Amino acid sequence: MNPAFTPSPQRYLTGITTTGAPHLGNFVGSIRPSVVASRLPGVQSFYFLADYHALIKCDEPARIQRSTLEIAASWLAAGLDPERVAFYRQSDIPEIAELTWLLTCVTGKGMLNRAHAYKASVDKNAAAGNDPDADVSAGLFMYPVLMGADILMFKSHKVPVGRDQIQHIEMARDMAQRFNHLYGEHLVMPEAVVEESVALLPGLDGRKMSKSYNNTIPLFAPRDQLSRLIAGIVTDSRTPREPKEVEGSALFQIYQAFASEPETTALRKAYADGIGWGDAKQLLFERIDREVAPMRQRYHELIGKPGSIETLLRAGAEKARAVATPFMNELRQAVGLRNLASQTSAPAKGKSLKSDVPAFKQYREKDGQYYFKLIDTDARPLLQSSGFDSPREAALVISTLQKDGLTALADQNGKVKIFEGVSTEALDAALKAFRVN
Ligand code: TRP
Repeated sequence: MNPAFTPSPQRYLTGITTTGAPHLGNFVGSIRPSVVASRLPGVQSFYFLADYHALIKCDEPARIQRSTLEIAASWLAAGLDPERVAFYRQSDIPEIAELTWLLTCVTGKGMLNRAHAYKASVDKNAAAGNDPDADVSAGLFMYPVLMGADILMFKSHKVPVGRDQIQHIEMARDMAQRFNHLYGEHLVMPEAVVEESVALLPGLDGRKMSKSYNNTIPLFAPRDQLSRLIAGIVTDSRTPREPKEVEGSALFQIYQAFASEPETTALRKAYADGIGWGDAKQLLFERIDREVAPMRQRYHELIGKPGSIETLLRAGAEKARAVATPFMNELRQAVGLRNLASQTSAPAKGKSLKSDVPAFKQYREKDGQYYFKLIDTDARPLLQSSGFDSPREAALVISTLQKDGLTALADQNGKVKIFEGVSTEALDAALKAFRVN
């Protein structure tokens, strides 16, 4: 293998809807794995608070505001480093709403009819003898398209989610495919990453831990509440000294999600040796509390400083928009929302429409640096950048070139070179195509 080979970075993206306080299931299934992924070398992460999605399910403004703060603080308390990732609030990125519309126009209504969440509402209405769409908002129907925009905006490769979200990722792939077929290869096909333990983390009653079953243990419950909730986990009626089975034991499964291999083995043996349920619950409480206590303290410190979380999220939005703004410009060009002064002649019938606009192509070289090229409609290169340390820096330069055209080129101090033989007029015309106003 070529030692100089650097794999291109994998982009991870995930969001949490801001309608409540996070519980242990969210922690094990989403927060903890996404923090781990954000530390892997070669991974670029986008993590966000899905507050537009929250409006679909919740019409209590104060609750949405509070939940946004709590979920942001939870992610940070769990060790997310906002310097390493783009950590932002969905509603701070207006391009998401804009892309939602472009995707709406390439999404089949029939596909949305088949979305599990929408279908469940319709089935419920049918069973009750109501109009099929009674109390179903267009927002619920459009949920998968908004989610598609979240994912496709940042060219995400991997999307860590719970099992129930897999269908949404498949729909995002479908939208990307349809868009690319119509307008050229702009969108990247995402893939769901499902943490097996997510689907499995049981709640107090043994069913999957979920807000809708009202069987959750809040991640940052105070110690005494945590202890009380754990005492309420369902067990069978076996008495102390009777051997117990780990299969189907909610208590054991929750323990396993927090403990190391040897700890889990020890509890398995204790079950066989007939540990009493009270002692097993005490062990579980201590194990969770050991893991959660330092985070709980950081969480409360963070919650006490909402202003600094606000500042941090705004900085995150700036990072995310450095990518979203130029990409949205590219997509506007692609679909024909263009500057009229750069009119392209009407294509002959049957001619492919795919490359009738210039494009910025971003890539990574073996040296690990990020580069871009500007190519014209005949795929002829017009501009070549030198290397940037991060894709974000490259995107920022693209963004200024799109906004200010030739004048911005002069400010780049030679970091962006004009290809030999390219006239200023050709370059000016190509850059003008991106200008929105
Ligand atoms: N629908 C997700 C949930 O309820 C939250 C979400 C919104 C999301 N947009 C996303 C998750 C994009 C992953 C990627 O859990």
